[in-house]
Amino acid sequence: MADTLRDELFEWLRIPSISTGGGDPADLERAAEWAVAKIRRAGGTAELATPIAGGNPLVVGELRASSREDAPTILIYGHYDVQGAEPLDLWDTPPFEPTVRDGRIYARGAADDKGNFLPLLAAACALAEAGELPVHVRIAIEGEEEAGGESIAAWLAADERGADAAIVYDSSMASPELPAITIGLRGVVLTTFDVRGADRDLHSGLFGGSALNSLHALHGALAQVLPDPETGLLRDELRVGIAPVADAERASWAGLPDGDETLKASGARPAYPGAGPDYVERNGAEPALDVDQVVAGDARTVIPAVTRATVSIRLAPGQDPAAMGAEVLRLLRAGLPDGAVLDVVSSHTAQPSLFPVDTPAIALAARAIERATGHAPAFVRSGGSIPIVADFAAKGIPAIVTGFTLPDDPIHAPNESIWERGLELGYAAGREMLIGLAALGDQ
Ligand code: BES
Ligand code: MN
Ligand code: MN
Repeated sequence: MADTLRDELFEWLRIPSISTGGGDPADLERAAEWAVAKIRRAGGTAELATPIAGGNPLVVGELRASSREDAPTILIYGHYDVQGAEPLDLWDTPPFEPTVRDGRIYARGAADDKGNFLPLLAAACALAEAGELPVHVRIAIEGEEEAGGESIAAWLAADERGADAAIVYDSSMASPELPAITIGLRGVVLTTFDVRGADRDLHSGLFGGSALNSLHALHGALAQVLPDPETGLLRDELRVGIAPVADAERASWAGLPDGDETLKASGARPAYPGAGPDYVERNGAEPALDVDQVVAGDARTVIPAVTRATVSIRLAPGQDPAAMGAEVLRLLRAGLPDGAVLDVVSSHTAQPSLFPVDTPAIALAARAIERATGHAPAFVRSGGSIPIVADFAAKGIPAIVTGFTLPDDPIHAPNESIWERGLELGYAAGREMLIGLAALGDQ
């Protein structure tokens, strides 16, 4: 298994299926077709769907249970699209030429999400080929996850067959010894806006001190929404709706890595005193606001007329993206000096999600992961977002969100990589989950 899986992954990783700008649509299609061919080789059916015109193709496929027509249906999910690889000069080896070094596979998409997801697909295909697949497996692999695309949501909304549970391989283990089921994901509202302070750029000698400067105006706006520097918390208006942490969740956090170490391992520095110890709770159960980009001005004596900024708020499970997105804008505008105006350029949202620890499919999956890896998984909330998971929840499909990458694997970054053992663990756990979930509905 292991060599074939690695060879297959290398083929998939060589296709630069970038969805975040600058990618070639033909490469997205090739990466999607690659998955279609794999499913068909295993005796399944698969095709490309484009539920939204102009969207990236969605792989929709199916592997029928080997010998039981009334078997439960499990939908497996992953994404074949990847983030752009810039800045290229920070990669030690080229991003689309997968390379093994020290037990790790380096390539864009190695951990997010081709290398994370493929072991699950491979386990389903192998069970089908061996005539041992005990559940019906439906497959949805999207090409717009990194771009906030809507195609899979449109497909799911129109889908009448549903599933008894979904397995989503797109998060990570808690540590090399501790697998995790991500029961909660944060949502996000990502907004790009312009702040205008003048009709045109102005000479700072002629107008400095008299004319509004759009960058200064932005400062006033941001002051309204940035976290408290002492506590790290957002203001109460932006914390509305946060779902409390259940005792069973908190109990399973005991074995999680130390937050100070987590920050250090990724080259991060604490944002406020105590950010390390608070890491797990804050990352999963609190909203966070980040200024992602500011573009304005020039390195000369100019007063910039317009400043463009991108701000994102990660939302804790329980929070409403529409309400919180509107509140962020209201607060930003309230902080502008008279005369400055803020116009929204674009906005993307993803709903947060949260499943109870005792959801039957999640409990079955936890036991299967323990059988496969020797370790009972921790139940964690992840700070990242996987937009489709909330749509699964809304359709009554419990989602087992997991994955066998490591938390400090550099995803979205130069030298993205996956530990090779993650492939074996992902395969073993995927196989065991598909077998274990055959009991869904029996309890
Ligand atoms: N796989 C990640 C999200 C993730 C990372 C979940 C780590 C759990 C642990 C996903 O591909 C991602 O990057 N999502 C984006 C979504 C956004 C573009 C709407 C994110 O979180 O920024
Ligand atoms: Mn991902
Ligand atoms: Mn990602």
